[in-house]
Amino acid sequence: MYDKVVVIGSLNYDVCLKLERLPEEGETNFADSVEYCSGGKGANQAVQAAKLGLPVYMVGCIGEDASGAFLKETVEGYGVRTDYLKTVSGNSGMSVAQSLYDGGIRASVVRGANDCVSKADIDAIADVITPETIVVFQLEIPISTILYAIDVCREKGAYILLNGAPAAALPEESLKKLDLFIVNEVEASFYGSVEIDSVEKAESEIVKMSERLSATCIFTLGKAGSVVSDRGRTEFVPSKKVQAVESTGAGDSFIGGLCYGLVKDMDIFEACRFATCCSAKTVTKTGGQPAMPTLEEVMEIYRGEQG
Ligand SMILES: Nc1ncnc2c1ncn2[C@@H]1O[C@H](COP(=O)(O)OP(=O)(O)O)[C@@H](O)[C@H]1O
Ligand SMILES: [Mg+2]
Repeated sequence: MYDKVVVIGSLNYDVCLKLERLPEEGETNFADSVEYCSGGKGANQAVQAAKLGLPVYMVGCIGEDASGAFLKETVEGYGVRTDYLKTVSGNSGMSVAQSLYDGGIRASVVRGANDCVSKADIDAIADVITPETIVVFQLEIPISTILYAIDVCREKGAYILLNGAPAAALPEESLKKLDLFIVNEVEASFYGSVEIDSVEKAESEIVKMSERLSATCIFTLGKAGSVVSDRGRTEFVPSKKVQAVESTGAGDSFIGGLCYGLVKDMDIFEACRFATCCSAKTVTKTGGQPAMPTLEEVMEIYRGEQG
């Protein structure tokens, strides 16, 4: 039924410093190492979908700096089509993280070029969007552009998936135009009415959310798994027991996996089980995009699931 994925979102040049302790106020200390990575929720989700073999377009903006060229080359290397990726003046989006050995992490994000994704960029891709297209959004580009794009996608009859991350206030009438709304437990607490600290709470809250928005809803619950609610049917999908080393990109990998399931005509519950296998693979390796599995790698666990 669906034949391609269009991700409208962010690309970030991620810089990750590994260090023993954070510097004190006024102090400059040495970090032990640095890693550079292509990231951003939009690019991550596009890359996961492309690694699974789906046709994927990335719509977004990069800066005319060296990191912009790196971001474009990296996503292209994973098979993402960049025909609608625009280069703008100024810097690309960037995140700088200080990661401690005890697992503590502090990070700051520069929006950069991601702030330049405009209505004109949506108009430019409008002809590519058909009823057979899954359009994927997150909230790292201007909200006004996203709201406009949701309307364009509705008119075109596309399937609209919004990952409400990072959590931001959105007009209820726009949320009601979605086909699928997916958030993690922290974001779910923001969009809902209560804090979600157990699977039971998630199950009762997601029924309300799905009714409220008349949309399919998914809450991912970290290593516990996820809950799905679709037209009155609600299911808990436990995560896969794996040797997790780092959770970077778990949620983004999940969304790429969901797209695969939907393109392959799985129902949303089965698509969630497939997505769960994708993120299980992702958390067993360090990094975001490099850690995301190919179709073959996901199948190693997904087939086992099928019995
Ligand atoms: N430690 C883990 N072991 C196995 N699967 C995991 C683990 N952490 C996350 N996952 C899987 O990844 C999915 C998304 O993770 P989550 O942390 O909820 O998303 P986000 O990255 O958006 O916070 C979960 O629903 C789960 O299936
Ligand atoms: Mg999480």
